[in-house]
Amino acid sequence: MKTIAELEQQKVALLKKFAPSSMEVATLDAQLEQMRSALRNTMDRIVESVSVEFERYKQEKEKKQELLLKVQEREKELLQLLNEYERLRGDVETNRKLYNDYLGTQRQLESAAYSTPRTVEVIDRASVPTAPVSPKMSLNLMIAFFASLLASTGLVFLIEHFDDSVRDDITLKKAGNLEPIGTIPYIKADKQKRRELITFDAPKSGPAEAFRAAMISIISLLKEEEGSKIILITSAETKEGKSLISSNLAAAFARWGKKTLVIDSDMRHPSLHRTFGIEKEKGLSDYIISKDEPIDAFVRKTPIEGLSILTSGTIPHSPADLLGSERMRQLIPQLKQEYEIVLIDSPPTLGMADTMLLSSYATAVILAVLVGKTSIDALKRSIDLLRTSDAKILGAVLNEVSPRRSRYYYYSYYYRYYRPYGEKE
Ligand SMILES: Nc1ncnc2c1ncn2[C@@H]1O[C@H](COP(=O)(O)OP(=O)(O)O)[C@@H](O)[C@H]1O
Ligand SMILES: [Mg+2]
Repeated sequence: MKTIAELEQQKVALLKKFAPSSMEVATLDAQLEQMRSALRNTMDRIVESVSVEFERYKQEKEKKQELLLKVQEREKELLQLLNEYERLRGDVETNRKLYNDYLGTQRQLESAAYSTPRTVEVIDRASVPTAPVSPKMSLNLMIAFFASLLASTGLVFLIEHFDDSVRDDITLKKAGNLEPIGTIPYIKADKQKRRELITFDAPKSGPAEAFRAAMISIISLLKEEEGSKIILITSAETKEGKSLISSNLAAAFARWGKKTLVIDSDMRHPSLHRTFGIEKEKGLSDYIISKDEPIDAFVRKTPIEGLSILTSGTIPHSPADLLGSERMRQLIPQLKQEYEIVLIDSPPTLGMADTMLLSSYATAVILAVLVGKTSIDALKRSIDLLRTSDAKILGAVLNEVSPRRSRYYYYSYYYRYYRPYGEKE
């Protein structure tokens, strides 16, 4: 069979002899066309089969890549398993050693039991474990449970250990051998029952009862003292309940039938006037500054029968100068003549001289202590300070401001100290 190239050469030769439109040339052209189309068909088929093959290879390659990824993942898993296995094998090794030790000890004990009088008896033989020694899920869980229990209990003990606040009679004794005069629980308040006057507003309530118990303690502890009593209420620092205790104790004394005066001497942070809903002006500071007005012009009556009040007065530049003045000193005997009980709500002891000056006039000093807040150290320092001024420290009133911490709610000192006023032991 002739090739396309040979036929084309033949055509060139024919064209020299015949016209292009001749029969011979036309036959040759038809032959050429047939061969060309056959060639095109063959080439198409080849291209098609090659592309099919290419597609197949491509898919195969993708599959292999997927497989490779899977193999790599599996390899990673195997490595992890291998690590785990190594770890467990270590555990098994340790446990086996332990087990052998036990076995050795057991043998020693057994031989000792045979060689000496039988004081040791084998109760139950140790059996070889049938299940793997490790890891023991239930054991691990139990250990974790007890460890966490131990940790939390330890934490509670630590917190208690490092808590240096006054919490109860024991810490009170530790701070300065202080007598507990009473414990005031957390007081809930509303419009009808004011916290600061709970003994008056809700005389049958638990807190009112606690104040009465404290009052009885005070009366009892002071029964040797003749005549009227000047009682100073202070605390180591601010906001420990001095004012609340002063106003309630004052109301309790008045209701008990004592002619009582309550004085707000905290000229830096006065608050008693607010308790009774009056102005603080024309009070103690104004009296001291005024040279000759009588004290009656400054003392006011309260809605509580038998209770009068001397408010702080205009806030002065230097309260200490006023409280240490001669006029203040001379005021005390006058008050004693007029009232059976004078309660002085005073400033904190630490950091200023005011209370020290006042304490020298007082028959007795009572410290307000905020349970869980007043630090033993601060209380100690206040007591030391007060003792340098010869003040008679009667004891402390524990004030529990937080309802959560109220442990002593109806724990009353009433029964411990209660004896009708004036009766001998
Ligand atoms: N036992 C208590 N229950 C509820 N709140 C209290 C109690 N004692 C004091 N508070 C409140 O704590 C705050 C401080 O008391 P306060 O008597 O003014 O302290 P201080 O006179 O020592 O600065 C006040 O708002 C008072 O109402
Ligand atoms: Mg106050």
